[in-house]
Amino acid sequence: MTDQTLSNLLKEDRRFEPPADLAANANLQEEAYERARTDRDAFWAEQADRLSWETRWDQVLDWSNPPFAKWFVGGRLNAAYNCVDRHVEEGRGDKVAFHFVGEPVDDERTITYAELKDLVCQAANALVDLGVQTGDRVAIYMPMIPEAIVAMLACARLGAPHTVVFGGFSSDALATRLVDCGAKVVVTADGGYRRGAPSALKPAVDEARAKAKDDGFEVEKVLVVRRTGQEVEAWDDDVDVWWHDSVEQASTEHTPEAFDAEHPLYVMYTSGTTGKPKGILHTTGGYLTGASYTHWAVFDLKDDDVYWCTADIGWVTGHSYIVYGPLANGATQVLYEGTPDSPERGRWWQIIAEKKVTLFYTAPTAIRSFMKQGREIPDRHDMGSLRILGSVGEPINPEAYVWYRHVIGGDRTPVVDTWWQTETGAIMISPLPGVTHGKPGSAMIPIPGVAADVVTDEGESVPDGSGGYLVLTEPWPSMLRTIWGDDERFKDTYWSKYAKQGWYFAGDGAKKDDDGDLWVLGRVDDVMNVSGHRLSTTEIESSLVSHPKVAEAAVVGAKDEDTGQAVCAFVILREEAGDGGADIVEELRNHVRKQIGPIAKPRQIMVVAELPKTRSGKIMRRLLKDVAENREVGDVTTLADSSVMDLISKGMDSGK
Ligand code: WTA
Repeated sequence: MTDQTLSNLLKEDRRFEPPADLAANANLQEEAYERARTDRDAFWAEQADRLSWETRWDQVLDWSNPPFAKWFVGGRLNAAYNCVDRHVEEGRGDKVAFHFVGEPVDDERTITYAELKDLVCQAANALVDLGVQTGDRVAIYMPMIPEAIVAMLACARLGAPHTVVFGGFSSDALATRLVDCGAKVVVTADGGYRRGAPSALKPAVDEARAKAKDDGFEVEKVLVVRRTGQEVEAWDDDVDVWWHDSVEQASTEHTPEAFDAEHPLYVMYTSGTTGKPKGILHTTGGYLTGASYTHWAVFDLKDDDVYWCTADIGWVTGHSYIVYGPLANGATQVLYEGTPDSPERGRWWQIIAEKKVTLFYTAPTAIRSFMKQGREIPDRHDMGSLRILGSVGEPINPEAYVWYRHVIGGDRTPVVDTWWQTETGAIMISPLPGVTHGKPGSAMIPIPGVAADVVTDEGESVPDGSGGYLVLTEPWPSMLRTIWGDDERFKDTYWSKYAKQGWYFAGDGAKKDDDGDLWVLGRVDDVMNVSGHRLSTTEIESSLVSHPKVAEAAVVGAKDEDTGQAVCAFVILREEAGDGGADIVEELRNHVRKQIGPIAKPRQIMVVAELPKTRSGKIMRRLLKDVAENREVGDVTTLADSSVMDLISKGMDSGK
């Protein structure tokens, strides 16, 4: 972000005080900040006590071998028991866990905690029958249907770490993840509903399985939910098993086993600065503590709330704030399968009105697109039930924040702008809705128990009014434990920049305003944020270069009004490819779409003759970003050949 935008942001002077009744009854009060600072371990132990432990821990934190943390050492628990069984045992079996709303209108299902328990037990028994044992990995590649959550909880129940792969990812992306984590079983569906039509999933699993096999890795079983009823062409009797033939026939009795607090719960792949996605490992006790505590505190969860998070379970937000946090807290949720505008643009608001949603959590990119459509659409629905609105995934610009509060929240609801990452497992920086006033665009301060700072390259804390790098200065229970199979990369990526201080480097730039409140500005590395989804520039570059016509590629994230950032690529074609043909740009865009997924498809591809490089041969992405954002090209004195920029700009003028 340029200094110009920074100073504009800091002129923001609108403030919103917490509503009086919310403040008076808030789950966490102001004193929690001080209490957590005074004795951090005691504070986290108090949060861990929100869960049910088979064996209590002996030590809150073992940080004797940083950056490898152990939380709640010696404690034993079962995550699925905590999310499901205990609510039933405590007499809340009839409480609704999910109001499931399928994309086709009227395709709805209500699932109570007692029903969820039966489903999870059945799925656990079926997975055992398929050969899944504690420690085995299970991949989940599903639409947003209750079975996806049931599958995750069944894995947790067995101590078999799951890796959920977003259903919008391609078979190639799925294959890479299957091989990297060594998934024994894949749970999938024939398809899901997307914009009014069934969209197939099973063929991508078949392709991924074949690709994995080429890499010498064999998936043993594929468990398939019949969701759309569409035709499933290929069926391998040795491998494929229908959910209704196995899970639905299985016993509803299953005794959960308690696992060590540090037992792996799941691996979630996320983009890093190299082409290879990182498998972020979360473990059981600390993660569940973090997810449960933050969901309770940041959304001020009460027993009669109806909570809805619009994320997909293929991302960490779905893990922490649809599955583990809300279920550990025994919350009632809406689970919606489809897109916001199907069959019509008011679908979300209609669901809020109908289900009387009180707590709503979504991403700025969605808010911006609704803003564009105008307030007439939400205004047709009575959303008076809402009491708190949340935002996650990317910086929320002040205008979107104010619109969200005003139009969706009827000017009553606090907006909590929550900063966190796949790696942090749970919300780290956010207002507390009953304590902190709202300031449009700012995530405000770390929540009680979390310690963050904005520092210079050398690790000096910056004064109020200045910017730097965002760091977390104390370990926290839901922190990632490592990158699956790659401890070195874990140390190198997050802990080497501030090794001396022992701080976690988040990879984000941030600013402290004059009040000391934090503004997260975005990534400072080669990671883009498109519609709240993390994408690696290098991964897309590798994909482009794998196309036979491409010699070299550079990818940047350029500012985009709708999606926050957009993927812009610059490619040099191989000589033998000539001008690549009339459809070269479309051909390359589709190539990336096929290899990674629709979200990675570049908005723009420019075919150029050269790329700007430093004398040491590094591509100067910053300059390309200027070109992609139509800014005047900045300093080119370190370029090996400064005429390159002219060529690139010419390429852009010609529309390529
Ligand atoms: C960005 C999503 C500003 C940030 C939970 C971070 C945000 C990355 C915010 C993590 C926010 C997330 N304000 N930026 N409230 N929330 N980000 O792993 O750049 O998909 O590093 O986790 O999203 O993305 P991830």
